[in-house]
Amino acid sequence: MGRAFFKLDTVTISNSSQVNPILWKDNQVFLIDQTRLPGEYQLVEINSSQDMAKAIRTMIVRGAPAIGVSAAYGLYLGATEIEDTDRAAFLLKLEKIAQLLRETRPTAVNLFWAISLMLKVAHQTIGGVEEIKKALLVQAKNIQKEDIETCLAIGEHGLAALPKTPTKLTILTHCNTGALATAGYGTALGVIRSAWNAGRLERVFADETRPRLQGAKLTVWECVQDKIPVTLITDSMAAHCMKQGMIQAVIVGADRIAANGDAANKIGTYGLSVISKRHNVPFYVAAPLSTVDFSLDTGSSIPIEEREDSEIYQIGETRISPTEGVNYYNPAFDVTPAELITAIITEKAAVKPDELVKLSY
Ligand code: MRU
Repeated sequence: MGRAFFKLDTVTISNSSQVNPILWKDNQVFLIDQTRLPGEYQLVEINSSQDMAKAIRTMIVRGAPAIGVSAAYGLYLGATEIEDTDRAAFLLKLEKIAQLLRETRPTAVNLFWAISLMLKVAHQTIGGVEEIKKALLVQAKNIQKEDIETCLAIGEHGLAALPKTPTKLTILTHCNTGALATAGYGTALGVIRSAWNAGRLERVFADETRPRLQGAKLTVWECVQDKIPVTLITDSMAAHCMKQGMIQAVIVGADRIAANGDAANKIGTYGLSVISKRHNVPFYVAAPLSTVDFSLDTGSSIPIEEREDSEIYQIGETRISPTEGVNYYNPAFDVTPAELITAIITEKAAVKPDELVKLSY
């Protein structure tokens, strides 16, 4: 995995919704290294399926839709690594690379969705291995392009679904769901962008999102680039802010949604939904239909990723808890029950969770 070094001060980014988190250029993928933002803006050069698997596992690229797009390019890169010209042998090796990519992260269903779309194309393409490789690149580019269109549509439907009063809303969000977590524009942060552009946003409250701090590092960075007024709070401050009447809506993303509307999202989301209910604050989940896993009846079967202890006992390089005598538990996601969700905002429509199945494609 090569790194192309650019510092923030040498790269002009006028609008983060135009940031290209995944760039296909010169037969390789350039990813913005999200583990280094906001301090450093660096592009990482990915030119093999192994590198892409590593980039997803280590969260250089993260966010459900962005992981899906990256995995699609990763599978194409893998296809170009296969030397067999025999179709059956090629497809067998392609399946092994698909498996390598599937094993990177378990919760975001967009990863599995994108890989199965790619494999479908491989199997359905008539002709030899070269034709399949070409078709795979076309499909990866399509997944990327459609994700941006999808995010824009989510933004429109979300804007229409927001409470009508007050005219200008203060919206709380959790984790990062912006351009960086998608192919561009964002899901929940996309709705917030649309609200800002329509003059319906007073301010965003961004949860810091322990332990990986996607809110503090990425959401706030995106808002600053776009000049969207943003206030950063720690996760534990959200209930107090709601009690004070400071928040009129909560919008979060999702990594996997079950058919009944139960939604897995970044750890801390479930708690937010409970306190939103307590304070009568509408709670929206914004996600593309590629995040809905219609094969799961409820959220209890969504696999929840557990990550390394060091994410809890360290902040940066600094150890913050005793070295001995402590156990750690670090689930990266939790599941918000459908009954606590006001509406799920997709690219087709904003619907009540129990109407989600109507949008099944
Ligand atoms: O662990 P991450 O950073 O990959 O988490 C995914 C997310 O960004 C969030 O859970 C997000 O709210 C949904 S993906 C747009």
